[in-house]
This record gives sequence, structure tokens and C-alpha cells, in this order.
Amino acid sequence: MPEARRHLLSIADLERADVERLLAAARSFEDDSATRPLLSWRSVVNLFYESSTRTLASFELAARRLSADTSSIRAAGSSVDKGESLKDTILTLSAYDPDVIVVRHPSIGAARLVASWTDAHVVNAGDGKHEHPTQALLDLYTIERALGRLDGVHVAIVGDVLHSRVARSLVRALGLVGARATLVGPPTLLPPGIEALGCAVSSDIGAISNADVIYVLRMQRERMEDAFVPSLREYAAVWGITRERVRPGQLLMHPGPMNRGVEIDARIADCSGALVVDQVRAGLVVRMAVLADLVDDRTSAELEHSFAEPLEVS
Ligand code: NCD
Repeated sequence: MPEARRHLLSIADLERADVERLLAAARSFEDDSATRPLLSWRSVVNLFYESSTRTLASFELAARRLSADTSSIRAAGSSVDKGESLKDTILTLSAYDPDVIVVRHPSIGAARLVASWTDAHVVNAGDGKHEHPTQALLDLYTIERALGRLDGVHVAIVGDVLHSRVARSLVRALGLVGARATLVGPPTLLPPGIEALGCAVSSDIGAISNADVIYVLRMQRERMEDAFVPSLREYAAVWGITRERVRPGQLLMHPGPMNRGVEIDARIADCSGALVVDQVRAGLVVRMAVLADLVDDRTSAELEHSFAEPLEVS
């Protein structure tokens, strides 16, 4: 099985056809009436070494909707507190023969290491500031539903790009489907050379004005060892997304959790052009699609066919 079908570690491992197959599968899961016990007798283990609300809840619900058995472990409160290493934790969990391990970890490359220690399919639910591929897929799904297309869409990604795995995955994913990204933020929060991912970069907040979508990033204070901005108040004044900075018709996205009053104005986050709740909702069907796609060992062509014709199970 090719690496891109065996695990989901990075958007860089995917091709456009993989993304299109996953988005089509996610669309097919919108239909609640088509019950899909595609993962019955399968098991999904969620192993989270970092905080999570949306990602963990949606992976759990997605696995259960597909009739999988699930077990979710947060590092705090597990044997990690007693000094167990990531490798020993994976070897231990692998003894239960899970079909999928979903892992979130603060270190770059952790998910790829996990994949080298287990026979399970591995999904990267965020490895440090590196990648968060299922977030990028659900973001594409949300944009396509809102605008009816992805090709040619321009997304301005604003804020703490330096520490953002969401930005790195999203830029790659947008590039795969013919959309484009401009990264916008203070120079201290824009990693040098990030243009190599195939995006534009600007340190002028005015650069958001001609985008179709303004995608706001959280200030990832947990990853900051230095002071990257003079103060949060000053950051909010210069870079915060307010009603005045959003032109009519522009869409607004945020991966959550939002820090209202810092990167995004408290009121604009709830305006009609804000897709934040749609993103959360998309997380469920997109993660169902990812889990089903990894576990199913049919060929891509067979899968595309089966997703095109929803399976009714009484
Ligand atoms: C993001 C994450 O954890 O990478 N959140 C999420 O998964 N929805 C973004 C963030 O924490 O700012």
C-alpha cells in the first residue's frame, strides 16, 4: 500500500486525487440516513500528548459513527506521568492490535516515528509546529461548501504562522487543489523561507483585503520561548481581525480555540460570514472519511465508486 494510503502524516504525502477522494467521501457521510458500519470490529486509539477539544472529540465521534471501538488516552493521567516513553507507550498500545492510532504530540516528526513502531495506520493529529493534515482537509471541505469551488480561491492566513502547524498543512493543501495562500503577520512571526511552500508572504495587514477567505491563527503562546510581539494588546491593535478590516463578502475562518479580543474581535467571530462552526462540523465527516479510507484496503477507484453511491444499511 502506498505511504499516502497507509498513514496520514503530512499533506506533503498526498496528491490532488487523494484530497479529492477524501473530500468526496466526507460529502457522502453528510447523509445520516446511510448508516455505515464500515469500521465494525475495528479499533481506533486516540493518543493525545497536547490539549484538544475539537480534534479529539471529532475523531472519537467519527470512529464511533463508523462502528469502531475507540479508546482515548490523554498523556496527563496516563503512564506517561510515570515516565513511560512515547515508544514504550506505542508498543504497549500496539499489543491490543488497534487498526488506527491517532496521535497528537508536541514534537515535530512524532507521528512519523509512531508509524515506524506500529503496524496500525497512523494519523497525525498535530506534531508540534509541523503539520495537522486533517485540519487542512476539513478547512478545504469548509471552503468548498461555502464557495462551491477551491480552484483559484485566495486565502489570507493571518497571525502566528511561525508556530502554526495549521498554516503549514493548509498552505500545502491549498496548493494541491489550485487555490493560493498569502501569509500575513509581523515579521517576527513569519518563518524565513516559508515562501518555499508555494505561498506569498506579507507584513502588511492590508494584504488581507483582496482575499476571498481570511483565515485567522491563534497566538500559540505555549510554543513561544521569546517575546515575539511587544504585548498582546499591541498585537490585537495592529493584527487583530475586526469588523473594519473585513470587507463585505469575505469569509472568516479560525481553527479554534479562539482568543477573542486578541487575534479576532469578539463580535466578528459570530458574524454571518464566519465559518468557524462549519469548520468544527466538517471535522466529523472529514475524519470519518480519513479513518474509513485508511482502514479500507480496496483500491482508490473502487473506493471512489463506493463513496459516489451511498450504501444504505437497514
Ligand atoms: C489547532 C491545533 O491544535 O493545532 N487547533 C485545532 O486542532 N483545532 C490550532 C491551535 O491550537 O491554535
